[in-house]
Amino acid sequence: MNNTSEKPIILGIESSCDDTSVSVLKGNIVLSNVTAGQKVHQLYGGVVPELASRAHQSNIVPVVSAALMEANLEPKDINYVAVTKGPGLLGSLLVGTSFAKSYAHALNIPLLGINHMEGHVIAHFISRNPDFKAPDEPFLCLTVSGGHTQIIIVKSALEMELLASTIDDAAGEALDKAAKVLGLPYPGGPVIDKLAKTGNDSAFKFPMPKADGDNYSFSGLKTSFLYQVRDLKNAGNDLDEKLIADLCASYQKAVVDYLLLKFKNVLKRTNAKGIAIAGGVSANSLLRQAFTNLAKEQNLKLLLPEFEFCTDNGAMIGGVAYYKIGEGAFDGLDLVPSARLKL
Ligand code: KG4
Ligand code: ZN
Repeated sequence: MNNTSEKPIILGIESSCDDTSVSVLKGNIVLSNVTAGQKVHQLYGGVVPELASRAHQSNIVPVVSAALMEANLEPKDINYVAVTKGPGLLGSLLVGTSFAKSYAHALNIPLLGINHMEGHVIAHFISRNPDFKAPDEPFLCLTVSGGHTQIIIVKSALEMELLASTIDDAAGEALDKAAKVLGLPYPGGPVIDKLAKTGNDSAFKFPMPKADGDNYSFSGLKTSFLYQVRDLKNAGNDLDEKLIADLCASYQKAVVDYLLLKFKNVLKRTNAKGIAIAGGVSANSLLRQAFTNLAKEQNLKLLLPEFEFCTDNGAMIGGVAYYKIGEGAFDGLDLVPSARLKL
C-alpha cells in the first residue's frame, strides 16, 4: 500500500472500561472518533463493572452508526474490524469483542483483537491530519491511565518493550481516590487539574514514595493525602474552596514530580531520541508542561498526544490494527478477552 487511496478502512472499537468509543480510520488517519461516556458511575464515585457492561450494551450500536455517519461511510466500506481484547473489565470487554466478532463475521472481513496498552502508545502514530508523519525515532513513553502506569521504550509502532510499571495503584487512580476524599466528582483527575490552577502547590508537602528500582508505587502517597485531609478536619478546618485548591495543587505536584523522577532515571539508560506521554493522565496540564520542559532541557523530541487520543478511544485501537495488518495475525470467532493482558 503506497498511496492514501489504497489504505484500508478500519473500524476500531474500545470498550475496556467506562467509555464506549468507536472510530473509523483510513490507514493511520482518523476519519471519525465517537465516544459515549457513562455518567451512571458518578453516583458511586468509581466505575461499577456490571453497570459499565450494561451501558456498553445500550451504547455500542448507536456509537458504531455515529462513527460511520461522521466518516461518511457505510458498513460495506470497512475492510477490517479491530477491538480491544484486554486488559480491562471482563464484562465490558465481552460486550466489545462479542459485537466485533459478529460484525466482522456478518461483513466477512478480518478481525483483530488489540491490546489496550499498545493502543495508548499508538495514539502517537495516528492523526486526523492527512499529512501526518508518524514518528520514526525511538522514544520513551510514560503511559499513565486510571489502571496503569508504565514506562515503555518504543522502537517502532510494532516494537515496544515494558521497562517499568506500578507495583500497586496507577497514577490516575491516585488522583481519582484523592478527589473522592475531597468529595469531588468522578473521574477526579481532570477536576484536580482544574482546581489546582488556582491553588498554591507548596502549601502542603507529600513525601516522595520509596519503591525500589524503576517501578512506581502510589499507595503511600495516596495514604499520606488521606491523613493530611483527616488531620486538617480534626484540627477544625473547613474544607473551603481555597483549602481544596491548595490540596489539589500540592498533591498534583507531588504526583507529577514523582512520575518525572523515576522516568528521568530510566531515560538516562536508553538511547531514546524522544519522550512521550500517553493515557488519560497525559491530558494533565502540569504533566504536559513538565514533559515540555524536560524535552527542551535534554534536547529531545517531544510527543504529546492530541487531547481526544489521551483518554480511552476507538481510534488508538484501529491504529494498532493498521500497523499489525501486515503481520497477518488475525483473530477468529474464538477470540477471548483477557482482563489482565500484559503489554
Ligand atoms: O486512559 P483512561 O481514559 O482510562 C484507563 O485506561 O484507565 O484514563 C482515565 C484516567 C482517570 O484516572 C482520569 O482521572 C485521568 O485519566 N485523567 C486525568 C485528566 N484527564 C483524565 N488526570 C489528570 N488530569 C487530567 N486532565
Ligand atoms: Zn486506557
